[in-house]
Amino acid sequence: MLYKKGAEAYLYKEECCGRKVIVKRRIPKSYRVPQLDEKLRYDRTVKEARLLSDARKAGVPTPMIYFIDLEEATIVMDFIEGEQVKTIIQNMEEREKKDLFTHIGMLIGRLHNAGIIHGDLTTSNMLLSNSKVYFIDFGLGDYSVAVEDQGVDLHLMRRALQSTHYSYAEAGFAAVLEGYKRATSKSEEVIERLYEIEKRGRYHRER
Ligand SMILES: Nc1ncnc2c1ncn2[C@@H]1O[C@H](COP(=O)(O)OP(=O)(O)O)[C@@H](O)[C@H]1O
Ligand SMILES: [Mg+2]
Repeated sequence: MLYKKGAEAYLYKEECCGRKVIVKRRIPKSYRVPQLDEKLRYDRTVKEARLLSDARKAGVPTPMIYFIDLEEATIVMDFIEGEQVKTIIQNMEEREKKDLFTHIGMLIGRLHNAGIIHGDLTTSNMLLSNSKVYFIDFGLGDYSVAVEDQGVDLHLMRRALQSTHYSYAEAGFAAVLEGYKRATSKSEEVIERLYEIEKRGRYHRER
């Protein structure tokens, strides 16, 4: 059964061996040259599967993968019973939200410690289930320990908060940084770079 249509992929909710699973299939894009399109879908599927599994090893909850079909650019993974962080924070108390975002910052720190860049840190790509936060959608992710990449990852998180949770964005992001600092020893350097990246951004936009 079609569950969600993303920008890049169709997600189906199915039963497999008595379990609920999500089948994520990257769809061909007609505006891309077919050979390149195939390679892109193939690469992102491989990368997403590896990153999902490596993130879990680094202590960040992610759905378990059951099956990968590279020809079909498809990943079959555990269905996470829960809701997008984006939706649930709308009914949360200030205190709860602060704890949640501090926790999210800590999880981002764990990813970075493990040399993983998520690449699309939005509250739609985080699911809350049984008081655990699952990170999903690693298709734009990468392996890197570069301060610049880590800074950009955080910057994208801030941008996502500003666009979806405008009135809470600043407080939410402050909580993210709080958790991030707790999780990584490199945080000072990365946060300094984050500010630099944001100055650069503004500079470019004003020109
Ligand atoms: N394993 C999963 N369990 C439950 N819901 C999921 C799972 N994977 C994806 N979803 C839901 O589908 C949405 C889109 O999936 P995502 O992987 O983020 O694809 P896209 O690249 O299209 O954003 C997610 O925001 C989430 O609501
Ligand atoms: Mg997504």
